[in-house]
Amino acid sequence: MLDLSAVRQQFPAFAERYEGAPAVFFDNPGGTQVHASVVKAMADYLTRCNANTHGVFATSRLSDARIDAARAAAADLLGATAEEIVFGNNMTSLTFMLSRSLAAEFGPEDEIVVTRLDHDANVWPWVMMAEDTGARVRWAEVDLESCTLDMAHLQSLINERTRLVAVGYASNAVGTLNDVRTIIGWAKAAGAYSFIDAVQYAPHGLIDVQALDCDFLACSAYKFFGPHVGLLYGKRAHLERLRAYRVRPAGDELPGKWETGTKNHEGIVGTAAAIDYLASLGATYGTASPTAPRRVRLAAAWEVIGAHESQLLDRLITGLKAIPKVRIYGITDRADWHRRMATVSIRKEGLTPSELASVLASQNIFVWNGNFYAVSISNQLGVEQSGGMVRIGLAHYNTLAEVDRSLAVIDRA
Ligand SMILES: Cc1ncc(COP(=O)(O)O)c(C=O)c1O
Repeated sequence: MLDLSAVRQQFPAFAERYEGAPAVFFDNPGGTQVHASVVKAMADYLTRCNANTHGVFATSRLSDARIDAARAAAADLLGATAEEIVFGNNMTSLTFMLSRSLAAEFGPEDEIVVTRLDHDANVWPWVMMAEDTGARVRWAEVDLESCTLDMAHLQSLINERTRLVAVGYASNAVGTLNDVRTIIGWAKAAGAYSFIDAVQYAPHGLIDVQALDCDFLACSAYKFFGPHVGLLYGKRAHLERLRAYRVRPAGDELPGKWETGTKNHEGIVGTAAAIDYLASLGATYGTASPTAPRRVRLAAAWEVIGAHESQLLDRLITGLKAIPKVRIYGITDRADWHRRMATVSIRKEGLTPSELASVLASQNIFVWNGNFYAVSISNQLGVEQSGGMVRIGLAHYNTLAEVDRSLAVIDRA
């Protein structure tokens, strides 16, 4: 079990007062709060190591060492090797960068599969790549009752012309967990690349790119308690073979070849601190020994986090179901809760999503409203024209008491 009071003390934001009162952070799918060790690591980097890389002097050597260490941490987070980790600005920029390189291999005979459940960032880089190359885009539909991917439809779209299947690990809009392992298997069998958007899954569960056998996977550290940095995993053979658009400072070795221009050194160092914080949960509250390898501690951490988030999800959905006039989008059946995360979008009859989010904000409960850039599913659900949904997005540092307080406000609203 997590000791939530100890955990929350490690996040400076919980000590802040907003208009005189503490906040309930349920805006986590839009970005999580930052662990104190992240702030410290970034300040320490900027204070003591600040330099460009690959010099012979102390600050440059320190920079190289910190970035190498961060890459090893990111590799542990994803189950990859350090050379397969590319740091960038954010998931969207990294995806565009990769799409530019992949485009060289695509032509009018080829097909790309995207889904109507995904965030724009895992749709439009591929649609634009299709526009540039003449490739055809196939859209996988969603079962709107459960907000899950229509797997039979998705499978039917994959054939010998399919060259890429781009799918999200988890939906940022309605919390659905996708069976990415099966989808990656289908892509592989057809000889297509698989690209997994793990931005929303990364703060909630263990990612294992080896076990998934995906070709590419991207996520963002600001969604898992770190700073604004994006991470891209690519299979080594692809990263080696594909042409990266770069200039000389990037070199031609992995992974530097994909990291054009000067990196966000302090952000990368902060990302490592976030990963080490997560690993520490596995040793403090989970089954891992403090001396176990970081990947082992991370695996133990996700078990502890998962158990706590299940409790939160149970309380939230059970409570929402009991409130008249509230509609929950996506999976609500307890038997299927393993197929969703504690990201729950709702509407309340009589209030626009903006009004409901404002009522919650007036009580310092921070939630997002709108389509969360998962525009296709918002359209399909028929809520796009009337303000979208209100998204309650929980993270491991949230408490049952916070959920109860929010339920009471939603009930009264
Ligand atoms: C599922 C999903 N994919 C991609 C993104 C874009 O990530 P980034 O801001 O790192 O570009 C987001 C951002 O919210 C997201 O939720």
